[in-house]
Amino acid sequence: MNTTLAELAKTELFRDVPDVILRQVFDHTALRELALGEILLSPERANQHVYVLLSGALSLRFDAPHSPEVRELAAGVSVGEMSAIDDTPPSAYVIAKTPSRVLPIHRDMLQQLVEESHPIARNLLRLMSQWIKANTRHIANDQTQIQRLTATIRRVTAQGLDQRIPTGPQDRDFAELIAVFNEMLERLERSFKQASRFSGDAAHELKTPLAILQGQIEQAINQAEAGSPIQIVLSGILDEVRRLSGISKKLLLLAQADAGRLRLHRMPFDLTASLQDLVEDARMLAPQLRVSDDIALGITLQVDGDLLRQALLNLVSNAIKYNIDGGWIRLAATQHEQRVEVRISNASHGIAAADSGMLFERFYRADPARSRNIEGTGLGLSLAREIARAHGGDLELEKSAADEVSFCLALPL
Ligand SMILES: Nc1ncnc2c1ncn2[C@@H]1O[C@H](COP(=O)(O)OP(=O)(O)O)[C@@H](O)[C@H]1O
Ligand SMILES: [Mg+2]
Repeated sequence: MNTTLAELAKTELFRDVPDVILRQVFDHTALRELALGEILLSPERANQHVYVLLSGALSLRFDAPHSPEVRELAAGVSVGEMSAIDDTPPSAYVIAKTPSRVLPIHRDMLQQLVEESHPIARNLLRLMSQWIKANTRHIANDQTQIQRLTATIRRVTAQGLDQRIPTGPQDRDFAELIAVFNEMLERLERSFKQASRFSGDAAHELKTPLAILQGQIEQAINQAEAGSPIQIVLSGILDEVRRLSGISKKLLLLAQADAGRLRLHRMPFDLTASLQDLVEDARMLAPQLRVSDDIALGITLQVDGDLLRQALLNLVSNAIKYNIDGGWIRLAATQHEQRVEVRISNASHGIAAADSGMLFERFYRADPARSRNIEGTGLGLSLAREIARAHGGDLELEKSAADEVSFCLALPL
């Protein structure tokens, strides 16, 4: 007996009534329980309602035809009168609260009516559906406008801060809201650009002096007496300078990514070979760890090899750095129809739930990393993710057992 909204919407009768209205109509069950007689007998309610009473034959009554639409739509049907063609009690009724937005309809009875498909009843229902439409058009308009606005805002936030929401003549009610939103975007864009230009400029300005410094220190080390205290001090300084230069290179790349200007020099890239090399490197760098691999053969991609290698290197070096005593590393790569997935997993003390959402934030380092004095800046994962995304892929922390950590790098083919 119960029918779904979708089924009813398929019937020709309510074809033109927007979904949002139909849903309201059918979800509103407050009047479902009321007996027909009660409604008819209540003078208070009788003033508020339009009744269309339908039996297998026909009885119709508009008790409160306040709205001109009803009058008009009901033209040709006697208004304000009850006309019973036969004596059978009404088997279905449609109730519309004239001034209101909500129009409850007794769904079972309506369905029965639809099933019976009495031609006169169908016509009446069509009349009713037009009336519903006419009286609720403003709700539908509001709803579609809000939906449109939401879709636009979603698109704008996805595409970037330089987007603006256009306003059309039909947006009268929302013009102010849209203007405020656009102003907000404007301010955000300006300060965001400033910030990313600043770190980009700073990193760029640091590049040359750092390179010169590095060259001179290297030269001084070569000239100093082998193993002398000054050579040892200089080596320490050189390490720090290299570190600084690494950070500024990463910052520059991140600033470029923020500005949407991470330029990719795509070339054929032998991912399989590159991963196999990384496995060898890991075995050499961390002989205390068990390193296993499962790398599909012959995966080649059209990517920026330098950047991708940098992303992979960070993932593997993380897997080594944040491992546990006697732990393991696993590198796997699988090729699917449209994409390649590289999984880099390692044994770990686990990542606290609070940290896991933050790992890709710039300069963020989970607590144990800091407390155990492990070398790092907290930029590696965010840069690796930017690199993946610039290629149309992504990098994610995967759900895994508490004693392991696994990252999945996905790249389109
Ligand atoms: N494979 C991993 N296992 C456990 N923790 C990890 C792993 N990779 C990253 N992390 C955590 O995420 C933090 C951020 O990593 P990353 O951005 O590469 O920066 P960095 O390595 O310079 O600290 C690390 O400090 C560490 O706490
Ligand atoms: Mg790292």
